[in-house]
Amino acid sequence: MSLAFPVPVKPVIQPPPMVEEVLTADEREALKARIKTLMKQQDAVLVAHYYTSGDLQDLAEETGGCVSDSLEMARFGHAHPAKTLIVAGVKFMGETAKILNPEKRVIMPDIQAECSLDLACPADEFAAFCDAHPDRLSVVYANTSAAVKARADWVVTSGIAAKIVKYLHRQGHKLLWAPDRHLGEYVRRISGADMLLWQGSCVVHEAFKAEALQKLHAEHPSAAVLVHPESPEAVIAQADVVGSTTQLIEAVRTLPNPEFIVATDNGIFHKMRAAAPGKLLLEAPTAGEGATCTSCAHCPWMAMNGLRKLAAVLENGGNEIHIEESIRAKAAVSIQRMLDFAAAEKAGKIQLGD
Ligand code: 13P
Ligand code: SF4
Repeated sequence: MSLAFPVPVKPVIQPPPMVEEVLTADEREALKARIKTLMKQQDAVLVAHYYTSGDLQDLAEETGGCVSDSLEMARFGHAHPAKTLIVAGVKFMGETAKILNPEKRVIMPDIQAECSLDLACPADEFAAFCDAHPDRLSVVYANTSAAVKARADWVVTSGIAAKIVKYLHRQGHKLLWAPDRHLGEYVRRISGADMLLWQGSCVVHEAFKAEALQKLHAEHPSAAVLVHPESPEAVIAQADVVGSTTQLIEAVRTLPNPEFIVATDNGIFHKMRAAAPGKLLLEAPTAGEGATCTSCAHCPWMAMNGLRKLAAVLENGGNEIHIEESIRAKAAVSIQRMLDFAAAEKAGKIQLGD
């Protein structure tokens, strides 16, 4: 197939309409009790992302599972002995769990929960991108399909992308990056690496508006601005902290500021409020010039997860992730490189300096 290089900017893939689960207190308690029984019977553990509902996040913690960013979701699921992994998040997170744990049953409340970055990077187009640049190592964001991961040399998440790219750059490698153009640009800026970028973007983070953020910050001068690196460059430029979801929650917990403006999915506020109950948390604006507000700072695919669907999948089966073995085995190599790097870095075996 032919593909123009440099890669043209991909239109932001539009999500389905937002449908959030609404439950009465009685329904919530009854569903949680039913799910807990079924999870015990099926030796299941729940791994949830910070952007899912507060109900799912609470349930994950009440049942010995975890709520985390995508790096820790992969690590936790891999290390946990349960026979069934329930992944509350989006499809690439379920696929990552299955890639690392082929012997386990991996299920999701809704298997149609996609991601605009994953959808903007079809495997055949990505393969053509790699074929056109055989002298470069390919580094892909975790928000990609199993087939794209299988073709990549490295997988990274937002929490570790800059460290891995710096490391590869210092080893003298030139890189290909996919699919998020904003995260890619950010990592290129801070690492100085030679990177060719795919041009996808996230429907949620693409919507944050730099000018409106400036105005809001002027009204709240004591606020720290926290930004997920999937956001546009002009938004990142205003950040006091740029980081993964876990790193942003940590900033709310540890920084002395009484107020925070947060440019990421507002599902994260559930954990931020618990981490710093007395602090004022403000959503970064998605309104402003050129605003369409298709996401309004909440991912419609993440919102497809809920307690009713989780109970149904545990009761009736289905929604299980399956990946063809030749793809899975190759994708496992590039994900495992990231996990090994993370462990070595944590153990002080990799020194990156600045
Ligand atoms: P984190 O790895 O920072 O949790 O990001 C995942 C994601 O999809 C952000 O939109
Ligand atoms: Fe994908 Fe954006 Fe949703 Fe994260 S918030 S899952 S990057 S569409």
